[in-house]
Amino acid sequence: MLHRRKFLKSAGYTTLSALLTMGVLKQKQSHNNNVAMASYPSTNVSSPLRQLAAAKGKLYGAAIDSVYLQKDAGYAALLARECGIATPNGELKWNATEPSPGVFNFKSADVIADFCQKYNIKLHGHTLLWNQALPSWVSFPPTMQQLQKHVTGVMGHYKNSPVLKSWDIANEIIAANPNETNDTTYGLLLGLTPQYILELFKFAASVDSTKLFYLNETSVEGASWRSDRWLALIEYLKNNGAKIDGAGLQSHLWFSTAYPFDAKGFSSVLKRLNDLEVKPIITELDIIIDLPLPNNIQDLDRMVADSYKRYLDLCFAADVDTVITWGITDRYSWIRDLNYMPAKFKADRSRQQYLRPLPYDRNLQPKLARNAIAQAFQQAT
Ligand code: XIL
Repeated sequence: MLHRRKFLKSAGYTTLSALLTMGVLKQKQSHNNNVAMASYPSTNVSSPLRQLAAAKGKLYGAAIDSVYLQKDAGYAALLARECGIATPNGELKWNATEPSPGVFNFKSADVIADFCQKYNIKLHGHTLLWNQALPSWVSFPPTMQQLQKHVTGVMGHYKNSPVLKSWDIANEIIAANPNETNDTTYGLLLGLTPQYILELFKFAASVDSTKLFYLNETSVEGASWRSDRWLALIEYLKNNGAKIDGAGLQSHLWFSTAYPFDAKGFSSVLKRLNDLEVKPIITELDIIIDLPLPNNIQDLDRMVADSYKRYLDLCFAADVDTVITWGITDRYSWIRDLNYMPAKFKADRSRQQYLRPLPYDRNLQPKLARNAIAQAFQQAT
């Protein structure tokens, strides 16, 4: 089950119509006490997002699916224009790269790597250890011997890659809550120990220490039981000599006019990481607006755009320099995939039109969210 944390949002944000829906004007936080109606350029900011990001020494990119990359020329052109970094959607997961013991297959991943080389896009390797997307011959956690053979084969294939610059060494290894772990200190999934993770990071460094190493996690974008333990594990790894360069905050976010946004907690996580000298990386950003839904798609798109802007402003205030959205167009978003669509949207088809989590719509047209992201990079100091 993929975990998605309902990411809270300040009651202070709303558009006028959403305010009318709520029936009250809740201004918990606002600079000048007006309704928080962000204003984005009505026409698209013409510069590519990768260029706006680079102007501030930052990277913008997206997850890429190799199947659509090969069959959808419009999608490929959009990625080439907008992205300075890219993450394979599934092509570097264990079930894709080592389908049978010792049998490695990089065909689909290399389609993405070749595309990245052609368009001068950095490639982020996702992921060497995850409790999902495992081939049938691997149980979780894999034996250290299985894991070391896997790491040797996969990292070895990209050791001299001109594009691959970073790895998610491990992904989603902290339990969602105390009931899913026996580990009170680090909250690690059953079967995992901090020593196992430390050994993985050290072994990876023995294979290829030229890449950046990240620990990637979901639902840590605020002060919580989970983010506390994730930060404690990162400190443990650092203190015990692991090469850990960055920490990936997936950022599959839920915003709502019905509950507040933990901006303070989120900023405290970013600060803690900077204090640990482990760079916070936004690795899988997409945004759902939770119920109560607005009356129309125009209001929804503005809520999504405002949420992107508010979130990225906080990121850039903490010197985040890499932002990867989990896809670039709603057309291929995993959130619209019935296998992963949140239950409350799957249950009511009329709600599904409100799942518009990414910068471009299903017709590959830019949405307000794309302008909001552009503006966040433009305004970053
Ligand atoms: C998702 C992909 O987008 C889907 O296409 C795939 O079927 C399942 O995995 N957290 C992660 C990503 O780290 O690897 C997941 O990607 C989304 C949640």
